This record gives sequence, C-alpha cells and structure tokens, in this order.
Amino acid sequence: KVLIVDFGSQVTQLIARRLREASVYCEIHPYAKAEAALAALKPAAIILSGGPESVHEEGSPRAPQAVFEAGVPVLGICYGEMTMCEQLGGKVEGGHTREFGRAEITVQKASPLLADLAPVGEDETVWMSHGDKIVAIPEGFDVVATSAGSPYAVIADETRRFYGVQFHPEVMHTPRGHQMLKNFTHGIAGLKGDWTMAAYRDEKIAQIREQVGSAKVICGLSGGVDSSVAAVLIHEAIGDQLTCVFVDTGLLRKDEATQVTTLFREHYNIPLIHVDASKEFLGELAGQSDPETKRKIIGRVFIEVFDREAGKIDGAEFLAQGTLYPDVIESVSSSSGKAHVIKSHHNVGGLPDYMKLKLVEPLRELFKDEVRALGRELGLTDAFVGRHPFPGPGLAIRIPGEITPDAVETLQQADAIYLDEIRKAGLYDKIWQAFAVLLPVKTVGVMGDARTYEKVLALRAVTSTDGMTADFFEFPWDVLGKCATRIVNEVRGVNRVVYDVTSKPPGTIEWE
Ligand code: XMP
Repeated sequence: KVLIVDFGSQVTQLIARRLREASVYCEIHPYAKAEAALAALKPAAIILSGGPESVHEEGSPRAPQAVFEAGVPVLGICYGEMTMCEQLGGKVEGGHTREFGRAEITVQKASPLLADLAPVGEDETVWMSHGDKIVAIPEGFDVVATSAGSPYAVIADETRRFYGVQFHPEVMHTPRGHQMLKNFTHGIAGLKGDWTMAAYRDEKIAQIREQVGSAKVICGLSGGVDSSVAAVLIHEAIGDQLTCVFVDTGLLRKDEATQVTTLFREHYNIPLIHVDASKEFLGELAGQSDPETKRKIIGRVFIEVFDREAGKIDGAEFLAQGTLYPDVIESVSSSSGKAHVIKSHHNVGGLPDYMKLKLVEPLRELFKDEVRALGRELGLTDAFVGRHPFPGPGLAIRIPGEITPDAVETLQQADAIYLDEIRKAGLYDKIWQAFAVLLPVKTVGVMGDARTYEKVLALRAVTSTDGMTADFFEFPWDVLGKCATRIVNEVRGVNRVVYDVTSKPPGTIEWE
C-alpha cells in the first residue's frame, strides 16, 4: 500500500490513478490527517503531492514529521519536494521565477528512480510546475538530474530512500512519468503490483460478510453502473439478505428501466422492488424550469420515495450505496471550501441521517474504470458496464425549461436513435458521454410539401477522462447526418438537429 499525502494539487488524483494502473493499492489523505492515515495504513511507501502554495507562506502546510521517520521510501513531487527539503534541513527560496510547462532534465547521476529511463548525460522530457526554488539540499541528498531552470530537478538520498522531483511525473505531459512512479513503488519500495480486481472482489466479499453478519441490507438502485455493480457484489457476498429498491424516476433513457429489472430479476435473481414513481416526479417538476430547483426537487422526491419503500422492509440495518472514490477523497481544495458550486450533484452526500441505517459502500476505494473492471469480474457484460455516465436527475436536466411527459418521451426516442447510430458506427467506446437535449425552441421546416413548426434537438458528445474537463467529439459528418435524418423522420415533434461543439470549460457537459 502507498500513502499519498495531498497538499492540494489539481492533479493529486492522477498520482493515485498511475499507481493503480501499475496494480498498486494507494490512498489519498489530506496533509492535516496524514499522520493518522500513516498509522492506520502502514504504507510501504509515501508520496507527497504537489500543491498551490509556497513553503514560504505563513502557515503553509508541512508533512507530518512521522513520514520521514517511518523507515519507508518517500517521494516528494513539486511542493512535496520543497517541503521535504525544508523539513529535512535544506533551504528553499520563495518563487521569483515560476517555471511552468514542458522542460528537459539532464540525468547527472544514476538512481533507481530513473531506472530504464535516460542514462547519465542524456535528457528526459518532463512537465515542470513550481514557484519555489531549492538553494541547498539537505544532508545525505545528491543531485540526480538538473534542468535549465532548476539545478535540483531530481534529488535523492539513496540511503534513506528519500526522493524529490520538481516536475509532475503523474501527468501525461511527462511521457515516461509512469515508469518513474513504477521505479519508485516496485523498484525502490519493493511492491509487487499484485492488486487485481479478482483479489479486490474476494477481499470485499469477505469484508461485507464480516460487516453485515446476518443483518438485512437495502440497496438503492439508480439504473446506473455503480449502484448495479455494488448490488451484484453484495448479493454475491450475502445472497438474499439484500433487497434492492429501484426508484424509477421516469427520467431514464429509453428502455433502461426494463433492462435493469430484467437483469436483476431474471439474470441474477436478486430481490428487487421496482417503484414506478414517474408520475410523482413529473408532478412535482411541473411548472419548474430552473435547473437547480429541478435538481433539488428530484433529490427530495427520490429520498421520499426511497424512504417510504425502504420503511416497508422489516429490520433492515444497512444501506448499500455505489459511492466511488472521487466522491470521497477528502481533497485539500474541497475542504478549504474555495471551489465554486457550479451544479449541485444530489447523489453525493447520500440520504439524510434520520434514516439511521449503517452504510455499506463497497466501491469507496475505486475509480470509475475500476468499477467497470469489477463489474466484468462479476459477470456483467461489457455493454452494461461500459455504458456512458448518466446524471442522477436524468433527462430532467436535458430538457431546458419545463418538463412534460411528452417532452420526456420525445427526448427518449431521439436519444435512443442517436445512441443506436453511434453504436452502429463503432464509436460508442470512443466517447465519454453522448446524449440528446430537447430545446424549448421551435423552428420552421418543410417536410414533403408541408410547412412544419417543431422543436430543435441538440446532440452532444464529449471525450473526457474524468468528466472534469471535456472536448467535443469529432464525429464523421456522415454519422451526424444520418442521426439528423433519422431523428427528424422518426421522432414526432422535432424538425431540426444541431451539434454542440463546446468544450468544458467554458461549457459544461450537460446543458443544465
Ligand atoms: P457537467 O455538466 O457538470 O457534468 O460538466 C459532469 C459530469 O457530471 C454529470 N452530472 C451529474 N451527475 N447529478 C449527477 O449524478 C447531477 O446533478 C449531475 N449534473 C451533471 C454529467 O452527466 C457528467 O458526467
């Protein structure tokens, strides 16, 4: 296991991703709680992340001293290197010149950290980003690599196995950064990289059995991949002690509610209560057009419906949720409360505490792609686990303005045609998310000899790795053209199709 101490860098999560890709288990903890995490996790190696501050700022964060006394290898990245340097008796000066962007480092001295990378005297491309400048390294350290802007680009104390790098090995712009991280975890810390999904599944099944005992568990199914994988895993662990409650908002993609109920009831034989609450949701949403109001209504009604149904299950003690790691990482930037609320995601934060159920969250340590791998491990099909992410409020946030049953049906039909064409063109897996948006705007068209006056449908497709940033997908024109023709011909109420070419930022993925 590896402990990643977070100092608030935007890319701390990427360190975890690179380690997981090399089959190494790791956890991110904010610096202020790192000491407790260190004691609990007993890691075989520690990584100190980058961060936005200068070690010269008043009250700027430090690593717990215990990190350097644990007897395990430590790698400091950017800010992590600076604070390590400062804490171990080196000297760091406040930033006069910020170095940022692509740079070449020249290897000066062989080190296991750079094994299989450029040999001594040659260059390696890295992504620099630092404001502070090291002027003296602590005793025991040597310079391993330099760059034009930093004489201490890589430093190492090989005896204590402490390493510092002034660049970000975790980002794609450092082409061989993954090799450096692997050198650290495998070569230096001696980890084997034996963290696999099969092992994770067995470990989780044992944990769930131990946590739950003979008690009953309720699982809220949304129809999405995460809650489905959680439910199948828990069912494998405790069988029919699990009951799933599927709150059908009526705002899912076409046929999805049926797919989920069939999968659970017929394929896995998991007890499932299907609550068709579409009338309730649409009723409460009637007349509402503000995006945040819609989200709040859906969040509230969801809890009311779920609560009502769950209350009918006698003696349930646990609530299962498909919470993922990105939702629980307590990042330095989120706990500082500085981030702006762009959209309130109602599925994070869960249910109110009056429900008094204890939580089972078997996916808490996983990233999205790992959940998919676990789903495959549990026998779910590629098509099921590979589905694009779908927002909790569903189609309600893809119908700007007022939502009517007719609008929902129109959108479901158009969306299904769009996704069908994408699949036929073999593009589905190249896209992070593709969906249609039904606009409250009418335009004039002509069909046959008649004038039409119908709504506009916008198509959206983006590529992304985490939903935080996204680029619009570059479709072949013929695929878009085919979608437009089919939608206008087959879907009543739509006579024009447009494609959204906005990236995020400045746009968001969803329209509301
Ligand atoms: P945005 O639109 O913020 O979307 O760029 C980023 C990702 O989050 C999803 N999304 C939501 N998911 N509840 C959710 O569960 C929400 O209210 C919500 N709003 C956006 C969106 O589909 C994309 O994957």
